[in-house]
Amino acid sequence: MTDGNLSRPTRAIYPGSFDPPTHGHLDVAERAAKCFGELLVAIVVNPQKRSPMFSLDERVAMLQESIAGIPNARVEHFRGLLADYVKASQADVIVKGLRVVSDFESEMSAAMMNRSLSDVDTLFLMSDQKYSFVSSSLVKEVFFLGGDVASLVPDPVLRLMTAKRASLQETRS
Ligand code: PNS
Repeated sequence: MTDGNLSRPTRAIYPGSFDPPTHGHLDVAERAAKCFGELLVAIVVNPQKRSPMFSLDERVAMLQESIAGIPNARVEHFRGLLADYVKASQADVIVKGLRVVSDFESEMSAAMMNRSLSDVDTLFLMSDQKYSFVSSSLVKEVFFLGGDVASLVPDPVLRLMTAKRASLQETRS
């Protein structure tokens, strides 16, 4: 897709911690990729709120495999401010998913802050209803306590999570 004012395809950035990627993320990426010429799925290296369970390399590998079927999407990563990365990437828009009303409260101020810093708007896609309860943090908690998350994460993610759980169990025994 090209925009009338741009000589290149419209470039959207879908940022997140992706610790780990879920089917909810993949669904948003697939639908966003249909709306824009290029989709950069951008992993924040050090999330503000917590230390990631999966290393950057692991998150890159899981995402790359998960989005392999989306021809106009690629995985990138960034440190520091999203607004700086957006400007450096010459992106036209930020894309985020909204699951529930409480997401909107924090996302609205983030969107306004990012717009004031970068002059780039954030467009929101509503999550598919079947993923509205799915978050990376819940998936991790359930999985590492022995619950079944196979329907909530892409296969490459489940494989890596299973290997990580096994190696953690080995270390503890
Ligand atoms: O998947 P997440 O954890 O909800 O993603 C949050 C993310 C990465 C989009 C947000 O933490 C972010 O933009 N981090 C980069 C630092 C930054 O720019 N902070 C100010 C946001 S207004």
